[in-house]
Amino acid sequence: MTEKILVVDDDLESLKLISLMLRRQGYEVIVANSGSQALLKADIERPNLIILDVMMPDMDGYEVCRRMRANANTRPIPIIMFTAKTLIDDKVAGFEAGADDYLTKPTHPAELASRIKAVLSRNNTPSMSRRPQGIAIGFLGARGGIGTTTVLSNVAAVQAAANLRPIIVDFQFGGGQIAQAFGLTERLDGMVSVLQRPVAEIRGPLLMQHLLSHASGVRVLPASPNPKEAQTKYTADAGQAVIKGLKTIGTHVLCDLGSGYSDLVARVMPALDQMMFMVEPLYSALGGAERLLNVLRAEFKGTIHLAVVNRGATNRYVAPWSEVEARLGQSVVGMVSSAPEQVYQAAEAGQPLVVQQPNAVIANQLAKLAQAVNA
Ligand SMILES: Nc1ncnc2c1ncn2[C@@H]1O[C@H](COP(=O)(O)OP(=O)(O)OP(=O)(O)O)[C@@H](O)[C@H]1O
Ligand SMILES: [Mg+2]
Repeated sequence: MTEKILVVDDDLESLKLISLMLRRQGYEVIVANSGSQALLKADIERPNLIILDVMMPDMDGYEVCRRMRANANTRPIPIIMFTAKTLIDDKVAGFEAGADDYLTKPTHPAELASRIKAVLSRNNTPSMSRRPQGIAIGFLGARGGIGTTTVLSNVAAVQAAANLRPIIVDFQFGGGQIAQAFGLTERLDGMVSVLQRPVAEIRGPLLMQHLLSHASGVRVLPASPNPKEAQTKYTADAGQAVIKGLKTIGTHVLCDLGSGYSDLVARVMPALDQMMFMVEPLYSALGGAERLLNVLRAEFKGTIHLAVVNRGATNRYVAPWSEVEARLGQSVVGMVSSAPEQVYQAAEAGQPLVVQQPNAVIANQLAKLAQAVNA
C-alpha cells in the first residue's frame, strides 16, 4: 500500500519541490501551507509521516508538533522537521517538541529519501496506513414519538464519556430537536448548508466546519428547527456522503432516521453499518413493528439491534420483553422504561439525561443500550 506523507510549508515553491520529489519516489503526497491547516489535515487524513517546516508565520513548526503530540489521533504519526536553520539549538527544540528527525534545507533528494525510509521503518504503524473508519448507526423508530431521538442523544453522551468520538447527524429537517436537546442554539444550519454543496465536496474538511460541540464531548451536525427546512431536497449520494465523511472524523456516527420506512431510510441505508430499531412494547404496535423490521432485514446488509422503549405508563396493554422477542424473532439488546419526569428535566436543562441524572435507573438502561452498539 502506498504510504501517505503530509508536507507542511508556507513557502509554495518549496512545497512543490518536496512534493514532486516524494511523488517521484512513489509516495502519496498531501500538502498544507500553514500550521492550522496541517493540524486539520493530519487529524482527518492520518498520514504515515509528516514533513514539517519550522518557520511559518501563523504557527511555527514546534507549536504544530506539540499540538499534534497532544492529540491522540495524531500522536503516533512520525514527524520530520524541516528547516533552513542549522543551529544546534533548533534541533534540540525540535526534538523537545516531539519531532522524530531533523533535516536542513536544501536537502538532496537521496538524503530525504533515506531519512523518510528510516523514520517510516522505525515507526512501523500499519494502522496508520489506512484512514480509520468510524461506524455509522441509524436510529429508527417503528413509530413516531416513541423516544428514538432521546435514546440516540443519550447513547452519544455515553460514548463521549467513554472517550469515544461520537457525532450525531440530524436528518430531521425542520424538526431540529437534537441541537436543542444539547442546549446548542447557534449555527444550526449545518445539514442544509452541507447538502447545498456538490457531492464531491461533502467530505471530512467541509463537515468539520459545520460540527457543533457540546461540553459532554458529543458533536452534532444539526438540522435547524426552521419549519421550511422540511422541504430540503437532497440526493441519496449526498446523504450517504455526509455519513461517510463523518466516519472519517468520528468513531461513531449516529443518524436520527425518525420513524417508519421513509425516503430518508431508503436513501442513506447503504452508508450505515448498524441500525438501532426502537419498538414500543404495546400489543397494538407489534404488528407494524414486525412488518417494518422484516423490510429492513430484507434490505439492510448490516446488523440490526432491537430495543424496547416504554414511553407510556405501565398498563395492561404492555407486552412483556419475552413476548416482544418472540413476536419479532430477535433478542432485545436493551430496554428503556418510562420516566417522563426525568426525560423532561434533562430536556429543560439542555443536557442528555445520562449526564444530568447519571444515577437514574433509566440512565443505566441507556448506558446498556450504548454498549450494544459498541460491542
Ligand atoms: N423513556 C421515556 N419516558 C417518558 N417519556 C419519554 C421517554 N423518552 C422520550 N420521552 C418523551 O417522549 C417525547 C418524544 O421523545 P423523542 O423526541 O425522543 O421521540 P421520537 O421517537 O424521536 O419522536 P419523533 O417521532 O417526533 O422524532 C418527548 O416529549 C420526550 O420527552
Ligand atoms: Mg425524533
